Amino acid sequence: MSVPSFDDRDGLIWHDGKLVDWRDAKVHVLTHALHYASAVFEGERVYAGNVFKLREHSQRLIDSAKELGFEIPMTVEEIDAATIETVKANNIVDGYVRPIAWRGSEQMGVSAQQTKTHVAIATWPWPSYFSPEARLRGIRLAISDWRRPDPRTAPVKSKAAGLYMICTMSKHKAENEGYDDALLLDWRGQVAEATGANIFFLMNGDLHTPTPDCFLDGITRRTVIELAKKRGLKVVERKIMPEEMADATECFLTGTAAEVTPVREIGPYSFTPGDVCKALVEDYDALVGRTHDKAASARHSAA
Ligand SMILES: Cc1ncc(COP(=O)(O)O)c(C=O)c1O
Repeated sequence: MSVPSFDDRDGLIWHDGKLVDWRDAKVHVLTHALHYASAVFEGERVYAGNVFKLREHSQRLIDSAKELGFEIPMTVEEIDAATIETVKANNIVDGYVRPIAWRGSEQMGVSAQQTKTHVAIATWPWPSYFSPEARLRGIRLAISDWRRPDPRTAPVKSKAAGLYMICTMSKHKAENEGYDDALLLDWRGQVAEATGANIFFLMNGDLHTPTPDCFLDGITRRTVIELAKKRGLKVVERKIMPEEMADATECFLTGTAAEVTPVREIGPYSFTPGDVCKALVEDYDALVGRTHDKAASARHSAA
């Protein structure tokens, strides 16, 4: 079954202050962002009609733009309200939200002082296709040749479109080799994160996760740290070298899209999703109010 192209769907997209027909939400080819990656975006989840951690995401969009040197012409309250309006207008119950802000076509060249900042918010249905049992089988990651850059080289704290170039290249190589995703090390050779999610390891009964000093300190990451602490788990944020993965018994990813996704293999290292993965998958599902599409899960397990 082919997925309909993202420019040819029914629905409404919020574009610079108003809801427009999905197919009319367009930009010109001489848009600065298209040539120079002057764009920042968010990825949000709707559970039972509500956007999870909406305020944090809207604030991060504003902060990401600031880090790239442009101002979003909206307050955080206005971004929240526009997001809710878009979700309601499209009748999204369980879905994904993609806000994006970018420099327009008023100026072409490296200097973009005269460009206007544009904002769009799109949303589409995205129910859960994986039951907790299916997720507990775990995914397989390759170790990417690309590295998360030094904070002196790129705006690493921003959810900047340009930073995803290495994620797409890493993910494609991993997929072409039969893996689900890729783990990126950072510029120093330390474990960093997956292409769209943070990473945790269970080592000697404690949770260990890399210090987010050159990649996104994910909203889900922070949420899961709180959930783990509530379970009485000790959470250690530190520098983790790749060879230390040999000492980990469990491993999982966290992210808005990934939620809590157990991992069973990273290159030569293997893990067995166990009690800690299971507890955090369940705690996260309970927190977000996730409902499972049982029919879709059954279809998936049959595939
Ligand atoms: C590169 C990268 N790291 C980490 C994350 C996790 O962030 P969050 O939990 O805020 O979705 C994401 C997803 O947004 C991401 O794209």
